[in-house]
Amino acid sequence: MTGDPKPLTVVTGAGGGIGRAIAIRLSSDGYKVLVSDLDESSARETREMIEGAGGEARVCIGDLTRTSDLAALTEDGAGAEVLVNNAGVFYPKTFEDLGEEDFNRVLNINVIALFRLCQAFATRMPRGGRIVNIGSRAMLGARGYAHYVASKSAVAGLTKALALELAPHGLLVNAVAPGVIDTAMTAFLDAEARAGITARLPVGRIGRPEDVASAVSFLASGQVGFVTGQVLFVDGGASVAGLTSI
Ligand SMILES: NC(=O)c1ccc[n+]([C@@H]2O[C@H](COP(=O)([O-])OP(=O)(O)OC[C@H]3O[C@@H](n4cnc5c(N)ncnc54)[C@H](O)[C@@H]3O)[C@@H](O)[C@H]2O)c1
Repeated sequence: MTGDPKPLTVVTGAGGGIGRAIAIRLSSDGYKVLVSDLDESSARETREMIEGAGGEARVCIGDLTRTSDLAALTEDGAGAEVLVNNAGVFYPKTFEDLGEEDFNRVLNINVIALFRLCQAFATRMPRGGRIVNIGSRAMLGARGYAHYVASKSAVAGLTKALALELAPHGLLVNAVAPGVIDTAMTAFLDAEARAGITARLPVGRIGRPEDVASAVSFLASGQVGFVTGQVLFVDGGASVAGLTSI
């Protein structure tokens, strides 16, 4: 007896900390995963982890700021029911040192590639399709990385706007806004900085990639039918505690 084929999900940045956890979680939720990343070895590692756990995955390597690579992912992911826009970059830089090139670098992947993927996939997704964008709690404001804050504010805005435009097509668009999560992106925080953050966070710990993956799992699931245009904070209570500079 053959069961229904698994639905396909595309996860960008799935070689990285949060993207890998999302890919593994969606695989265990019953999806076949298209693992997209710039970095070939980490993407292959994610695929191997999924296959090792009995799931199905394949990789699509490419720089999503390049039109040809983005088009290749769109082709490879044709028919996907769920798109998770997770690929992103972050680096701190004070306002006085920021240049236009910093905005270009961060906006190109965090916003423009995300927008283009939403557009490319939305026109091909079946009714009932879901898009989950990974934003950041930084959208509420933070010191020392205005370019990144601007990019993640744009992700929240785009999510709300697209939710309205795509609802008539039967598509749902939501975002997750993580707080500080333990990945390569936050590896620059030393022990003292981590202790300070932990002490200020209401839940008393830094987040894990799996915390974000759980939220994405819900927003990617069939249970999400009446939820669209939302930004779900996965930040240990930082946003309700009014913490901005963490
Ligand atoms: N770690 C945190 O504390 C945190 C907090 C809030 C939001 N986020 C967001 O979560 C997402 C994942 O972050 P992470 O912590 O897992 O970081 P990470 O650096 O571990 O992973 C990011 C992945 O994106 C990929 N990527 C970057 N640029 C790309 C490009 N041009 N084309 C294709 N792939 C590209 C990288 O190769 C990497 O594998 C990002 O959007 C980030 O902004 C992270």
